[in-house]
This record gives sequence, C-alpha cells and structure tokens, in this order.
Amino acid sequence: SRKTVAVLPGDGIGPEVLDAALPVIDALDLPLDLEFGDIGWECWRAEGNPVPDRTWNLIDRSDAVLLGATTTKPRGEALAELAPELRASAPRYISPIIQLRRRLDLFANLRPVENYLGGTTPYRYCVVRENTEGLYAGLDFSPVPDALWPLVADHPNVRRSTRTGAAASVRLQTAHGLDRILRFAFETARTHGYERVTLADKPNVLRDSSAYVLDRLERVAGDYPEIPYEVLNVDAVALWMTRRPERFGVIVAENMFGDILSDLGGGVMGGLGLAPSANIGESGNYFEPVHGSAPALAGRQRANPTAAFLTIGLMLDHLGFTEEAGAVKDAVRHVTRRRDRVTYDLGGSATTAEAAEAVVDACRAL
Ligand code: NAI
Ligand code: MG
Repeated sequence: SRKTVAVLPGDGIGPEVLDAALPVIDALDLPLDLEFGDIGWECWRAEGNPVPDRTWNLIDRSDAVLLGATTTKPRGEALAELAPELRASAPRYISPIIQLRRRLDLFANLRPVENYLGGTTPYRYCVVRENTEGLYAGLDFSPVPDALWPLVADHPNVRRSTRTGAAASVRLQTAHGLDRILRFAFETARTHGYERVTLADKPNVLRDSSAYVLDRLERVAGDYPEIPYEVLNVDAVALWMTRRPERFGVIVAENMFGDILSDLGGGVMGGLGLAPSANIGESGNYFEPVHGSAPALAGRQRANPTAAFLTIGLMLDHLGFTEEAGAVKDAVRHVTRRRDRVTYDLGGSATTAEAAEAVVDACRAL
C-alpha cells in the first residue's frame, strides 16, 4: 500500500540537499506520496509561526516526516537582517525541532554509524539516545533552589561558597522513560541484526542511579534472550567507538551521554556531510541529517547531499522498504569510495547536484 511522507525542507542547505537527493525515490520506483510543507526560521519570518497548523496537519496524516534542516538558534546575520519589530520577538522563536520532539513525544534518537569511506575495518553500529529525560530533563538550577539546598549543603565545595555560589542539575530517569528506550534498543538490535546491546552509563561514579538503570535493563533484556547485553562506562565507550568500532551493535544511553556519543559517532563516520538521524516516538517520527542549516554554505551548491541520502535510506528502512534502503546505502558507498564525484568536504569539487546525481545513477545501475 502507498505511504505518505511529509517533506519539510526548512532553512539554509535543507532545501538544497533534499532537492538533490529526493529523485532517488523515483529512481527506486517506491509507492510513496511526497507532500511538501513549511517549517523553520524562514517560515517564522514570513508568518510568525515556525510550525504552522497546516504543517501539523500534514505531519499527523503522514507515515513519516523527512526534514532538511532548520535554523534552531538564529544568530549573527540571521538576526541582523530582521526588521526591528521582528527582532524584538525573535527570542520567542521556539526551535521547530524541540516542538516536534515534545508534541510527538519522540523519545528515541537513532544515529546509525557505518563505514562509507573505506580504508579501515568495516563497522556497523548505532547510538540510541534517550530524548526526554536524563540530565536534560529540564531540572537545571541557578541558584540552587531551597528544596535542593539541604542535599548540596554538605558538599565541601559548597561549604566554601556563598548561598548563591552554586548551580545544580538533576539527572532524572524514570521506569517509564527507561523501559521504553531500552525496549527500543533491543527491538532495533533484533530487527536490524545488531549483535549486542551496550548500555553506556557511569556505574563507577553515579552508583545508585546507574544501579537503578541496570535493574530496568535486566528486566527488559529478559524479553530478548538471544541478544547479549553489557554495561560499560561512557568514557570507555567513547574510546572504543574510535579504536574498536566493530565491537559494537546498539549503544544506548541517557540524554546527555547519548548526545555526546551520537556526535562522536558522526565524527567516526566522516563528519556532518554524512551523518543521518531519526527521532522516533510512539505516535510519530522525523528523519533528518545531523547537520543544521549551515548558513555559510547555503545557496552555493556546496553542501554534501550524502547525509540526506542516508537519512532517506533510514526512513525507507523504517517504512519497511528494507531492500531499497540497502540500495541507497550501497549507492552512497559506491560514490564515496570512488571519490571522483563528491563534494569539497570529502576532497572533491562536485556541486551538491552533481554529487547527488552520482548517487542516483549508482542506484539505477545496481
Ligand atoms: P551546521 O551543522 O549547520 O554547520 C556546521 C558546519 O559544518 C558548516 O559550516 C559546514 O562547514 C559543515 N557542514 C554542515 N553540513 C554540511 C554538509 N551537508 N556538507 C558539507 N559541510 C557541511 O551547524 P551550525 O553552523 O552550528 O548551525 C547552523 C544553524 O543550524 C543554527 O541555527 C543551528 O541552531 C542549526 N542546527 C540545527 C540542527 C538541527 O536541526 N538538529 C543541528 C545543528 C545545527
Ligand atoms: Mg548534538
């Protein structure tokens, strides 16, 4: 049956990379209906809302959302070119990404890390970041509120400071939040053939909360007896992601640890020009390249479309088009390894459109 994809090109290089990469959907002859919508900073500038109602409607009736890029924190030139009356209300621009995550309760951020550039050992793993709690739960205080004060007052450094000379953040982890992200990690391992699940945490230091997480992990793991799991200190995971990437399958982590590890994963696979991501919840999703709107590259046909292709691949996989998703990845691999039709960031001189044509050609030839 046909599926509907909401395509939201957004700001900066977002429309350029999607324009270039979307023809791959036709090349693969997929039963998808693409419907385009507005989102982001330019949309806010034009009509005062970064995610208009018509876009929410489109999202609600789509099977998947494909995003190009959005300006999440406008700065410098973007602010300077605003009319004065708009500049005054710019602080009220709420990142569309944050709005999507909240409204659709997108608790899982998935970042596949795969070797596309060749040369080293083959590896294939993914980082699953919890998106709604952990150290980014919003329990972030300066000064320390009265209710927390008794808990911090005994710390030796606090005793040497004044009453306002401290700030505190709380790492919140709940049974609800943990169980669904851990289940997502095991399901991802099962459906995508990853060999093991690694929880990246800090049991050496955050002893009680880590023990709680381990308890939830053991319960969830009971439903997946065929998948081995382990707990490692997050710093060791960071080291091994670069030195022994082939040892990993699914790496799952709370919000902040996952934030850091997922960007590290982007670096491992070759940078922002390559890295795809998915945000998934119980009642929605969106797929987007890890990079932002890159204003310095926008309008110059310089941006690497590879991350957009791999993002489309990830979306196809989610929609059940496994074979076609594999074809997109193989085509990308073919082009990035030959290196003759790639963009500047991979050492080439191709434009966005030329680099994308190379991938679409490779897809047709497969
Ligand atoms: P950015 O990811 O847009 O660009 C950083 C640098 O990476 C660029 O200057 C460029 O040299 C390189 N780069 C990025 N994408 C590339 C590509 N496809 N090909 C080749 N090189 C590429 O991050 P920046 O400049 O810090 O942020 C720009 C805007 O994007 C800001 O408003 C920021 O808030 C937003 N942003 C949004 C994200 C999201 O929607 N999830 C993620 C990161 C930034
Ligand atoms: Mg990040």
